[in-house]
Amino acid sequence: MTSADSFISIRDVSKSFGTFRAIESLSMDIARGEFFSLLGASGCGKTTLLRMLAGFESTSSGEISIDGQPMSDVPPHHRPVNMVFQSYAIFPHLNVRDNIAYGLRRHKLARARRNEMVDEMLDLIKLPGYGDRKANELSGGQRQRIALARALILRPKVLLLDEPLGALDKQLREQMQLELRALQRQVGITFVFVTHDQEEALTLSDRIAVMSGGKVLQVDTPSGLYEAPRTREVASFIGNMNFFRGTVRRNGAATGAIDTEGLGAIPVPAETLTAPDGAEVQVALRPEKFALSPDRPDDGAMSVQGHLTTTAYLGERSHYYIRIAGKSEPIAVSSPNLARFNGGSSQSDTPVWLSWSPQSIVVLDAD
Ligand SMILES: Nc1ncnc2c1ncn2[C@@H]1O[C@H](COP(=O)(O)OP(=O)(O)OP(=O)(O)O)[C@@H](O)[C@H]1O
Ligand SMILES: [Mg+2]
Repeated sequence: MTSADSFISIRDVSKSFGTFRAIESLSMDIARGEFFSLLGASGCGKTTLLRMLAGFESTSSGEISIDGQPMSDVPPHHRPVNMVFQSYAIFPHLNVRDNIAYGLRRHKLARARRNEMVDEMLDLIKLPGYGDRKANELSGGQRQRIALARALILRPKVLLLDEPLGALDKQLREQMQLELRALQRQVGITFVFVTHDQEEALTLSDRIAVMSGGKVLQVDTPSGLYEAPRTREVASFIGNMNFFRGTVRRNGAATGAIDTEGLGAIPVPAETLTAPDGAEVQVALRPEKFALSPDRPDDGAMSVQGHLTTTAYLGERSHYYIRIAGKSEPIAVSSPNLARFNGGSSQSDTPVWLSWSPQSIVVLDAD
């Protein structure tokens, strides 16, 4: 997207706590109605950025605007945003209805209108009829939905969510992810969602900003980040990746090739190969882009022979680690268990063939 479509515009924003730089001249644009996630390791600055959007934290420099309006002089309660915290602090002494209506108390609404709005919210979060329950008689997932309803009832233009599903177990978390995404589509509010769970970010988001050390490494769609990471750091942060050192060999016209450690010379289409002849690069290949076979594949795919070192059975798929000549670390391969897994080729040192398509490689700058 271009900055002209920007609904939330973050320009050169830095944040220091004393001498510590928590956010380092960060810029990004978030579109209206987008489900946008901030993904990164603990301490990379996700909460700090969210708190600056909410106005709970000032910026040290730079500018944040929402819907065309600069936010620097706007106090938190006048910003068109609402925040859902990781510890979804709902009030245990209030019932569900009063919890959801809590933010409305400043709005002078007739009781009937307020009840109507709460009922709409209870339908939206699929808890109709729960209005009179006490908050402490709810499950974790139900409480989480109450916290969302409490934020949504104020109809903010932007909802900021700081690891809202962090406290839930895996099954409930996955169910809530689907509900959250459906709910976001339904209400059309812009979501800025913080998580350090890459799978969660990939599942939910229109776009993701990968952060590290107060900086943005890459902003992209889930498939863009996964299939076309721009740096080794992003490539290894999202999913698993095999890396091979390589040297560019250009033989003139349309295609070039990369001489790689272990995989030999891989032909690469000219458009994916921008580095000059002789340049040192890294070739990256995801574990599932390799196919394994006991015999040499005869379909013209690129292939290399290796030896199986370890197998890990994960139910739906298995991971294999293959040692090949010319490379010190084994190659990680992931294959779906299409047929019932019988532990067949899991014996160590079995010779196997690895094949791959040159289309699935990612070429990165050398470190
Ligand atoms: N009020 C503060 N005073 C000093 N340092 C702070 C303050 N708030 C945050 N920091 C520091 O800024 C950095 C970023 O913190 P932040 O809370 O934004 O991280 P995060 O990405 O949300 O991490 P997590 O995933 O653990 O929640 C951390 O190193 C943290 O110690
Ligand atoms: Mg945080």
